[in-house]
Amino acid sequence: MSFVCLADFQAHAREHLSKSTWDFIDGGADDCFTRDDNIAAFKRIRLRPRFLRDVSQVDIKTTIQGEQISAPICIAPTGFHSLAWPDGEMSTARAAQAADICYITSTFASCTFEEIVTAAPRGLRWFQVYPYPNRELNKQLIQRVESLGFKALVMTLDVPTSGNRRQDTRNKLDLKTILLRKDLRFPEERHIASDLQMSPFDASFCWKDLSWFQGITQLPIILKGILTKEDAELAVKHNVQGIIVSNHGGRQLDDVAASIDALTEVVTAVQGKMEVYLDGGIRSGNDVLKALALGAKCVFLGRPILWGLACKGEQGVQEVLNILKKELHTSLTLAGCRSVAEISQDLVQFSRL
Ligand code: FNR
Repeated sequence: MSFVCLADFQAHAREHLSKSTWDFIDGGADDCFTRDDNIAAFKRIRLRPRFLRDVSQVDIKTTIQGEQISAPICIAPTGFHSLAWPDGEMSTARAAQAADICYITSTFASCTFEEIVTAAPRGLRWFQVYPYPNRELNKQLIQRVESLGFKALVMTLDVPTSGNRRQDTRNKLDLKTILLRKDLRFPEERHIASDLQMSPFDASFCWKDLSWFQGITQLPIILKGILTKEDAELAVKHNVQGIIVSNHGGRQLDDVAASIDALTEVVTAVQGKMEVYLDGGIRSGNDVLKALALGAKCVFLGRPILWGLACKGEQGVQEVLNILKKELHTSLTLAGCRSVAEISQDLVQFSRL
């Protein structure tokens, strides 16, 4: 099997994973409308290339939160990587380090955070955190990852409770069953896991509670899951350092806007006061180009990383990242941009179809 685009990894992963694992990774909430629209929305956007510019040298490097990365393509937090590959997040971390991009490690990583750092000590890492009812647990986790050299906290806002994923219900798969599976790793994290099982997410968490997190960490705080200008304005008011426009890959509230459709509203509201990133539906270099043209500083990949991992472990994740980087390089060249700084909104138009 030759792997030349992200869809090749998707097809191969689907064949090789068990049905319940595939459904867990692939699944969206309810009718999966938003999951599918995340991808369809990119196809409603057309490119407006410019020609007769010197594109003999094209550079896709950029920075996020002041750190240099080789491309505006990074890894979104997804839990349970050992469902896809035995040493799970350690492989993902090695691939991210080799690709010189940022890897947002999920709270629900199936390796310990120490193992992940040891596997790839030079990698740029951010840590994804849910507000728990037990704030002491949040504090311990945050102090632990800070001392391990994680460079930012990504707070996921769109999970006051789990979305309704029908396939997981049919397969009788839930967070608790996964956390308790003996064949997965979850070594010393099990105590955290068992706490989380009781009340994983704090549904009472509000804007006013953000300051508690800001008071216990020196790290930049990035809010993940913002989809409206109203919340973007509140994020500015609360002095956070970034936003990831995201609908959790369509796994939480269904029928919300595709991420790329929500991006302009958020970017406009933020008025350049912080970096805005995007995840959801990125499957090609052209998708990355469109997101950057609409104001994202960088994009993050969820499912494609798990496909790479399921197909070939660390090498698969590296290939997914390399393919996308190469596609982005080609997209920039064909569109007449020499660098990400030259990507502007004039590059896109919305199709009437
Ligand atoms: C996720 N996502 C997620 N988000 C988060 O903040 N914490 C998490 O632990 C997880 N876990 C998770 C598991 C799986 C299997 C998937 C598919 C997704 C959401 C993720 O960070 C991201 O928002 C989406 O996956 C982006 O959409 P694409 O790239 O999958 O289309």
